[in-house]
Amino acid sequence: MTFDEMRGRASALTEELAGKLKKKLPYALQKAQGLSFIPYTVKDGEWASGPANEGICWWTNGFWPALMWAGYRLTGDNAYRAEAERAEAMLDDAFRDFDGLHHDVGFMWLISAGVNYALTGNDDSRKRLMLAANLLAGRYNPAGFIRAWNGDRAGWAIIDCMMNLNLLYRATDLTGDPRFAAIARRHADTAQRYFVREDGTCSHIVIFDPVTGEMLDDPAGQGYASGSAWSRGQAWAIYGFALSFRHTGNEAYQKTARRVADRFIEEVKTDWVPKCDFRQPADSDLKDACAGAVAAAGFLELAEQTGEERYFEAALHLLKALDETCADWTEDSPAIVTHCASAWDGDHDIAMVYADFYFAEAVLRLAGDEFRFW
Ligand code: GLY
Repeated sequence: MTFDEMRGRASALTEELAGKLKKKLPYALQKAQGLSFIPYTVKDGEWASGPANEGICWWTNGFWPALMWAGYRLTGDNAYRAEAERAEAMLDDAFRDFDGLHHDVGFMWLISAGVNYALTGNDDSRKRLMLAANLLAGRYNPAGFIRAWNGDRAGWAIIDCMMNLNLLYRATDLTGDPRFAAIARRHADTAQRYFVREDGTCSHIVIFDPVTGEMLDDPAGQGYASGSAWSRGQAWAIYGFALSFRHTGNEAYQKTARRVADRFIEEVKTDWVPKCDFRQPADSDLKDACAGAVAAAGFLELAEQTGEERYFEAALHLLKALDETCADWTEDSPAIVTHCASAWDGDHDIAMVYADFYFAEAVLRLAGDEFRFW
């Protein structure tokens, strides 16, 4: 079945969710007007920033402008575009800081400046995109991976980086310079080999010897324990490997995305709101709705690539569960998706702006928007 046929069958749900977004996003925008920080979460009914010590370099700071671009795509209202551009300009301070930057420059600039450049041709946005791509390429270790973080963690790589690779693919598309995509492919090959297990689960962090590339350890990271299955990490893998297939045509990446996706479906199919970690203790019911939002967008990508209805159905189940059991469509909060967990060992039951972005991205995809953020 074609993706358009699948979409056609879901038109009632699409219309309902798009209608709810159109009603809620003006409030999200109104509550952000004039803020001197970029929204990450919500405290006492007001937008709140990421951790103070991370400042403008906080890794989620691209998702707010991306959500505003999603609002613009959904409605054509220039107020969303103006806010996206305001936030994009705020991010310039992160380039100036430099020391606080990390591999999430993909999340920060591909879906802010990258979207602006794709939609408007703004040359300042192109320069921001290329500056970010060069920063990410500069984090590549020829032992075969992109280092995630700074300080003494030279050999640390994380599964989330699969989404940052899209910045490198875009840089090659824009410049014709193959180095960026070559780095992305090398990292994806390493991630495929060392992060993804036979059973379709994956590690959050893998620590390599930064000189030899030998795998040394796979600590719990944001998940429950070493060897467990942090659900948002599984969602990054599904979407990230699927997009690496889209950008390279390498079927091994799609096969990996399917392996993780099939396991994810087995783990969530009772209520479609992911546990924070699929291997967390049985007496814990800690949920991460954000993993469901990321996975929904990833499942739609896989459904379009493969024509397989089960991936499309999984996306619908996840979106319905978010809508019915996790979404706040009122004005009690400027955010939509609640019940997110920043980490097993982190903040629980919170809003996180990237959950709202992936939810909106998935609804746009269902609605037939041809634009691709990644
Ligand atoms: N480490 C990125 C995330 O929280 O998903």
